[in-house]
Amino acid sequence: MAGWILKSVILKNTPMRTKIVAGNWKMNLNRDESLQLILDISTAIQQHDLKGNRVMVFPPFVTIGYVMDSGNRDHRIEVGAQNMHQEESGAYTGEVAAKMLSNMGVNSVILGHSERREYFNETDSLLKQKVDTARSNGLEVVFCFGEKLDERNAGNHFDVVERQLGEALFHLPGDAFETIVLAYEPVWAIGTGMTATPDQAQEMHAFIRKTLANRYSESLSNKVSILYGGSVKPDNATEIFGKPDVDGGLIGGASLKANDFVAIVKAL
Ligand code: PGA
Repeated sequence: MAGWILKSVILKNTPMRTKIVAGNWKMNLNRDESLQLILDISTAIQQHDLKGNRVMVFPPFVTIGYVMDSGNRDHRIEVGAQNMHQEESGAYTGEVAAKMLSNMGVNSVILGHSERREYFNETDSLLKQKVDTARSNGLEVVFCFGEKLDERNAGNHFDVVERQLGEALFHLPGDAFETIVLAYEPVWAIGTGMTATPDQAQEMHAFIRKTLANRYSESLSNKVSILYGGSVKPDNATEIFGKPDVDGGLIGGASLKANDFVAIVKAL
């Protein structure tokens, strides 16, 4: 009896969420460079036991197919897209539809990246539409959000994050979160070399989990993977990933160098 109680207590308190290291290649690397990078990463992690952790890369649209089909790819490395259009199809010159991605075998898409919000005017309500379109086409969403420096300095960072989550995601039923990964990326830390401290990351991740628990349930909040993004490098990854509510990272600059990315994967 005591053993059963102990086991159920442990199970209840054990987060079932997966840890993830995801590389966002942004608008970098041509075909040959992409194939070289996936080969180098694959070779380096071939012998590495991922222990159920996920490794993902997000190349630009034009190279996704090459990276996916690369005979040298370690098939544990998942390949996703950095964006997609909110409409199903139609006269949207230059855009890419969710179903084109799913038809290629792409399973995941990044939505809400701060660069899309900033340079392409993506709003919370547009992102809500994109999230729905991704989901109706069977795509997992890696949903990015985070405050700007002036918002943090003004003490508004929790409100900003709560609004971004609420407006784009909280219309969804709880079971939708089985295919949503959250990526907290404070804008002031992206590409700046100015990482949030591990304590700042933990504080925000705990807040995000509490927000999910209030809107849905505690058990749901414990199952959602929440990644940190913003100047994660081999020398700070271990400490950031060591925080209890940080389930891995979304990596920009350091994902373009095989050695750095592999070191970050191994820091999980
Ligand atoms: P960074 O980018 O690692 O270069 O800061 C992170 C991101 O934009 O996802």
